Formats: sequence, structure tokens, C-alpha cells
Amino acid sequence: MSDSTSPQSPTARGLDRRALDYSASIAFDRRLYAHDIDASIAHARMLAKQGIVPGDDAEAIARGLEDIRAEIERDEFPFHQELEDIHLNIEARLKEKIGEAAGRLHTARSRNDQIATDMRLYVMEACDRAAAGVRDVQAALLTLAEANRDVIMPGYTHLQRAQPLLLAHHLLAYFQMLERDGERFGDCRRRADALPLGSGALSGVPYPIDRDFVARELGFSRLTENSVDAVADRDFVVEYQSAAAMTMMHLSRLAEEIVLWASDEFGFIGLPEEFSTGSSIMPQKRNPDVAELARGKTGRVYGNLMAILTTLKGLPLAYNRDLQEDKQPLFDTVDTLMGTLEVMAAMLPALRVDPLLPEAAARGSYVLATDVADYLVRKGVAFRDAHQAVAELVRYAQMEGKALPELSLEEYRRFSPAFEEDVLALDLRSAIEARDAPGGTSSRQVEAALKRARQRLEGKR
Ligand code: ARG
Repeated sequence: MSDSTSPQSPTARGLDRRALDYSASIAFDRRLYAHDIDASIAHARMLAKQGIVPGDDAEAIARGLEDIRAEIERDEFPFHQELEDIHLNIEARLKEKIGEAAGRLHTARSRNDQIATDMRLYVMEACDRAAAGVRDVQAALLTLAEANRDVIMPGYTHLQRAQPLLLAHHLLAYFQMLERDGERFGDCRRRADALPLGSGALSGVPYPIDRDFVARELGFSRLTENSVDAVADRDFVVEYQSAAAMTMMHLSRLAEEIVLWASDEFGFIGLPEEFSTGSSIMPQKRNPDVAELARGKTGRVYGNLMAILTTLKGLPLAYNRDLQEDKQPLFDTVDTLMGTLEVMAAMLPALRVDPLLPEAAARGSYVLATDVADYLVRKGVAFRDAHQAVAELVRYAQMEGKALPELSLEEYRRFSPAFEEDVLALDLRSAIEARDAPGGTSSRQVEAALKRARQRLEGKR
């Protein structure tokens, strides 16, 4: 940050150095420069069109602002702490470039409707980026599911092996969660999509402005309807934070399963070298750092959601400087979410699913117990009695150290006379194929789900 010329702020004259440092936001709100410039250009054109400022001045303003944009992008813009924030930094630089005409830009505008506009533009773009990132993770999950469409694994409840599943069905559960996450970012964008400019400091502006023109220029589909609301609320930031927290929660659960599955205890997947680290002292280890960090960073994103909710909760209408605190947590969430989506999308297709161990884990367990009970029900036994008989059967098998498929018909019949020869035909595959109602794990349902998922992704390109 350059301090060479120490320009005077129009608002911070006489401000104590410590108060200035405490209140300056330029270190972080410079990130809004492009949106701020877009909004200023649209505003200046509108002022000229309405005869509020001379057309030549508006043209000079627009050219000057484009110059400034290029300066910032070349990293040559002289940012000044004294000038507090991105708005005043740009305006002061504009004056250096085009002279007195720069002073007309802030006609019929306040930093309050200006920052609200910048933030809405920023959030709308962040929603688009998040939705695209979510779609990339969905595509990665789908690739992994398609490549392993025949793999059988135990499904879990309470982290106890419960019933057999196709691995693809398990992975597609995350596809569904992310589908809703993507929709939430779309919803957030739709509500953020209203132009605040024209609200002034809080009550509107006493000029014959054309808000619709500015909205069209900036790509807003509607106007905010109440000037006080427009400058005072940041619920669209809360919504983004909330959608991000939810998405991170889903990614964190997936990450947790990657950690579990990569352990020796599970052994379902191997971590590719590019996405795991070795230990400095234990040569045998491959650590799932990426998944662990995705899980860990979720805490940060939750914290950022709580931060903005708490910042807003006690504020009287309309604008209060507290609102400046909306930015850092938001930017941190955007960076964390986008980084997590990106690395997960890259890592997922590179996971090596073990061709044998997931199915072996299912086979070596009692995941067919429900199917044995259902078998008895089909033979006319009441469900509660069947459940009881199979519970005893399983206890027996556990004592004998046998899996269910290893039991003889004679052993089955000790627990219910309804067992017949065909009980021996029950296996993982038949249990999976039996669950053929929509939403179930049968290969027919899963194939159809894979196809639908593929089509949904194609439709979003
Ligand atoms: N930096 C301020 C913010 O982020 C911009 C608006 C300042 N408005 C004001 N009246 N001080 O909220």
C-alpha cells in the first residue's frame, strides 16, 4: 500500500490515525473493484442520459474508470489507506486522471447504495461460480460411480454393516445432496438479483434517475423496492454463507468417508499419490490430508455464517458501519468453498476403488439378515417372529464364526421350520436386485439413476 502522497479523504478529515486504521477496509474490499467500476460506469451513463450531468463528463468518467480498472489489473494502482475503502480510492484516482468532472460521479448516489450494489453483484457472481464448482464435483462423483458400477459394498447405519449396496448407489447419494446445493446457490442468486442503486443513503434520491436503465446495464433483473431495506440488509450474504455451509457439510461427510475408506480397517479405496501425503517417520503411511482439510475447513465456513448472522442481529435501520464486517467472512467462505470444490473434483475420479475388499466386507458380515427375515415373511411367517428367529440365527452364526451363506439348511431350520432349500440361494446380488422400486439399489435402478445424472449434468452445460 503506497502512502507517498497521503491524499485527503473527503470523509476522514481529522480522523485519528488509530481510528482510521481501525475503520479502513481497503485492504480487503479492493476485491470489489470490478463490480464497483461496473456500477459507477452504469450510474454515470444514466446520469448523462437523464441530463443530470453533462454527457462529456460522463464519457470522461467512464474512460477514466476503465483506465483505473486496467491499472488495478496490472497491479499498478496506488491504493491509499487514508482513503478508507475501494469507493473513495477509485474516486480519488479518477480525479487525478480526469480532473473536476470526477466530482460529478457521486451525484444521486451514496456509498451506502454503492456498497450494497457491489455486494449484490459480487454475491451473484459467487453463486454462479459455486454452482459451477458443485457441478464439477457432481461430474467427478458420477465418473467414479460409472467406473465402478458393479462394485458391491456393505451399506451402513450407525457405522454398522447393515444391508448390501451398490457402491455407485452410495456415491449417487452425494450427487443428490450436491444437486440441492446447486439449487440453493441458484435461489440465493435470484434473491440477490435486485439493484439497490437509487436508494441513496437511505431514503432515495431527489433526482430524476432511471433505475431500470442502471439495472439493465448491470444485468440485474429487478430493482430493490424499499430504499431503507436496500441499504440496510445483507440477507443475501447470509444466504450465500448458509448455502456454502450446507455444501461444505455435504463435502465434509464425503471427506469423512474417504478418510474411513482409505484406512487399513476398511481398505475400500487407495489414495492416489497426488492427493495424499506420506509420513515423515512412518514409511507405510498415505495420509488423506485433502479429505481431512475439507472436513476441517467446514468449521471455518460455519464460523463465517455465524459471524454475519451475529453482525446483523442487533442493527437498527438503516446503514450502520457494522455492515462493513460482512466482507472478510464472505470472501473467506468463497475462497474456502471454491478451493474445496476444486480439489474434491480433481481427487474423486483419481480414487482407486479396491475391486474385492468392499464386497468382501459385505460378504463377511450379516448384511443379508434383513433378506433372510423377508424370506420368512414370504413363507408366511409374521414379520416380528421372523425378525426374532433371524436375530437368534445371527447370534448362532456369530458364535460359530460363520457368515450367513456358510450355514447349512439344517442349521437354518433350527431357527424356523419355514426355511427351505431356496434360502441358500440368497446372496448379496439377489438382495441388491430385489430392491428394485424407484430409489432403490438394484442394478436396474442404479443404471437408470446414472443415466439421469449424466443427462442432468449435460443439461447444465
Ligand atoms: N466501506 C463501507 C462498507 O463496507 C462502505 C459504505 C460506507 N458508508 C458509510 N456511510 N460510511 O460498508
